[in-house]
Amino acid sequence: MRVGVVGLGHVGLPTAAVLAHIGHDVVAMDSDAGKLAGIVAGDMPFFEPGLQEMVGEGQRSGRLTFTADISDVPRDAQAVFICVGTPPRASGEANLLAVEEAAEAIATHATGDLVIVEKSTVPAGTAERLAQVVRRHRDEHRFWVVSNPEFLQEGRAIEDSLRPSRILIGANDEAATAVMSALYAPMIEAGARWIATDVVTAELAKHASNAFLSMKISFANAMARLCELAGGDVVDVADAMGADPRIGRDFLNAGLGYGGYCFPKDLDAFEMLAEKLGYDFGLLREVRKINDEAVEVTLRKIADVLWNLEGKKIALLGLAFKGGTDDTRLSPSLKLAERLLAEGARVVGSDPVANDAARKELPALETCADLYEALEDAHCVVIGTEWPEFADVDLARAARLMKFKIIVDGRNLLDPEAVSAAGFTYLPTGRPGRGLEGHR
Ligand code: UGA
Repeated sequence: MRVGVVGLGHVGLPTAAVLAHIGHDVVAMDSDAGKLAGIVAGDMPFFEPGLQEMVGEGQRSGRLTFTADISDVPRDAQAVFICVGTPPRASGEANLLAVEEAAEAIATHATGDLVIVEKSTVPAGTAERLAQVVRRHRDEHRFWVVSNPEFLQEGRAIEDSLRPSRILIGANDEAATAVMSALYAPMIEAGARWIATDVVTAELAKHASNAFLSMKISFANAMARLCELAGGDVVDVADAMGADPRIGRDFLNAGLGYGGYCFPKDLDAFEMLAEKLGYDFGLLREVRKINDEAVEVTLRKIADVLWNLEGKKIALLGLAFKGGTDDTRLSPSLKLAERLLAEGARVVGSDPVANDAARKELPALETCADLYEALEDAHCVVIGTEWPEFADVDLARAARLMKFKIIVDGRNLLDPEAVSAAGFTYLPTGRPGRGLEGHR
């Protein structure tokens, strides 16, 4: 099938590569000429395991081509995916101008009947708006707008796109559903779960999924606060809760909280949408409040153990919004760095792939490629993301390098026994600390 993809960000580029991989002829478009030139030359615009290889495979097979001209995209295509960005407006609402413009351009240049697939994360009701846009625009071809929300996680985009937990299609017309099931046939045959709904239900299911996952994380962080007050261990609480299949263990890890370009902005947009519809979704406000507190709690912990922060060197391991990605947008770790810098501390970060992006966002931050260099003469080290490299840190070497042997574990990544055996004072999140005697 001939397919178009508009917008080559964290969702669009993996989507284009995977659609070509399963046998479709894909024309992928982005208006950023520099980004396109990089992709064509094999230089991916962001770190994503397996992406470069799959893009290369698509190009070699001739099934994946790139263009900066949107008029190339719908030519002879049966489906075009809209994957452009939906950045937040100052109000928290999603800015949907790029989505509207993409739909309009696709309709303008269509050469036949076409399914327009809304893949960007958008507020419920957007597909209906898009249907109006394309209907108004042309009438010689039939257009169907379907919602096909994306559930991939950054850092595992290829894996999630190849073997999705579910393929959700919201369509109000059977002809459109049929095109989408033909498009995804190789994945459905391989066992992917297919869920077909009406359009607005699919849009709401995307909001609900991200909001629910954010809520799980905030629940774990609220439990962490309580565990610290009562003397419990939030990891054991999460394990005990997660053993119940009705709850599940995933996304119950307490720490610095959630960040990135999805959960924080999606939660705001969902809350705004609910408000517009006349429903006060106060639960979402509470989820955000608990998340905002997570960084402050960690900051207080650091200040509590180090006393004055001015002139103290803090090593920060992990700068992106989570391990496995170089995406630093709305990173809790960078938020903490910013707060520490404002308190007069010197912050030296180290991240396997996000150092450059982090310095761009926070120029006062220093970074080291080698994490042990960041540890040299540090008064304290903070674990900001959950890279396996950090879990495997050579504690004896770290102890020799650091000025004070203090670890603040913002992701509960390290083994408390091993850390205290190496002589460290250990302050995890929502778990009993170790070696605090000299500090209180
Ligand atoms: C999230 C969703 O997981 C995807 O299903 C969705 O497609 C995507 O948003 C989107 O809407 O585009 P992503 O933003 O890549 O994916 O990141 P996650 O792996 O979900 O992590 C989000 C944040 O939650 C990270 O900061 C992570 O460190 C944090 N987190 C995650 C926790 O603090 N605790 C946990 O137990 C799990």
